[in-house]
Amino acid sequence: MEKELTLSVIKADVGGFVGHSGVHPDLLDTAKAMLHGRRELIDYHVTHVGDDLNLIMTHQLGRNSGEIHKLAWDTFIACTDTARKLKLYGAGQDLLTDAFSGNIKGLGPGVAEMQFKERKSEPVIIFMADKTEPGAWNLPLYKIFADPFNTIGLVIDPNMHDGFLFEVRDLIKNRKVTFAAPEEIYDMLVFIGAPGRYCIKRVFHKKTGEIAASSSTQRLNIMAGRYVGKDDPVLIVRCQSGLPAVGEVLEPFANPHLVSGWMRGSHSGPLMPVGLGQCAPTRFDGPPRVVALGFQVAEGKLHGPQDFFADVAFDRARAKANQMADYLRRLGPFEPHRLHLDEMEYTTLPQVSKKLKERFVDLRK
Ligand code: F6R
Ligand code: MG
Ligand code: MG
Repeated sequence: MEKELTLSVIKADVGGFVGHSGVHPDLLDTAKAMLHGRRELIDYHVTHVGDDLNLIMTHQLGRNSGEIHKLAWDTFIACTDTARKLKLYGAGQDLLTDAFSGNIKGLGPGVAEMQFKERKSEPVIIFMADKTEPGAWNLPLYKIFADPFNTIGLVIDPNMHDGFLFEVRDLIKNRKVTFAAPEEIYDMLVFIGAPGRYCIKRVFHKKTGEIAASSSTQRLNIMAGRYVGKDDPVLIVRCQSGLPAVGEVLEPFANPHLVSGWMRGSHSGPLMPVGLGQCAPTRFDGPPRVVALGFQVAEGKLHGPQDFFADVAFDRARAKANQMADYLRRLGPFEPHRLHLDEMEYTTLPQVSKKLKERFVDLRK
């Protein structure tokens, strides 16, 4: 394929089935009908993790294409209609406006996109998570592209030995900075170790400049200035031939890490790797889930998916995540299970503080 290919993954929660746990099959059908036969697209795949509907699309219109974003937007609107008819839970919850204006960013849905020249063989993995936030990818991305204990290719593959560049976004101040690994990992960790604020947006191969990974970094709750739903993130990673191998990209998820976003977006919990058949969160609306779908891209066509985390090799990670969940749940409303006050999406603090205002005695007087 001569012209560069763009892979766009755009997602939104436009109605849960049942509650915030899953996506109704009629929504998947509506989305497929909307994307079917569209001349802008080379190929598409519609799927979901938990209550988030994911549109995986290939085309040649580049990143931030108005046409592609409009198509995704119209698809979510059509799915919202279906969701309203079925009275699905939170129908249209991630669509923050009635009017599309050129670009889907800032309107609610999450977007991860990358543009590249298709290689001789192009294996990609699309990660999709529910009940968590964009910073959930920081730890795995660090391990995949900067940790030799995870990725032996960094040590023994001459094409990877120079390392990678990490583009980090500050979601509060809306600015970005790029770090080179391995030489600047200590500086970088100061920031990415705080995933509620700093998120790895993109990773590039240092020597070739090739794009290696791209994530969605939208934070719905911040965008809307109030709680309107979660910012459940997606991530695209290219693999092999000078980039981390498929197995190196999957490896960090064998040891579940704690992420924010469980019950009411206000709790911390283990990120449990699951196959598509197990992607509906249940216990305490969780634990948070991550699915990994592999595709071989050929002439823009998506061959797959390979449902990686359905493999028995991740059974122990699931068992461990369940043990971690048991432990955390016993802490009930206490931190660190409950998130720090300024990270919670639900809070009664202002109302309760107001009610008790007169009863607080100032000890400085
Ligand atoms: C939503 C989520 C859920 C909800 C919870 C309360 O993505 O994570 O845990 O926050 O079910 O939902 P509401 O307030 O809609 O009843
Ligand atoms: Mg929901
Ligand atoms: Mg969700």
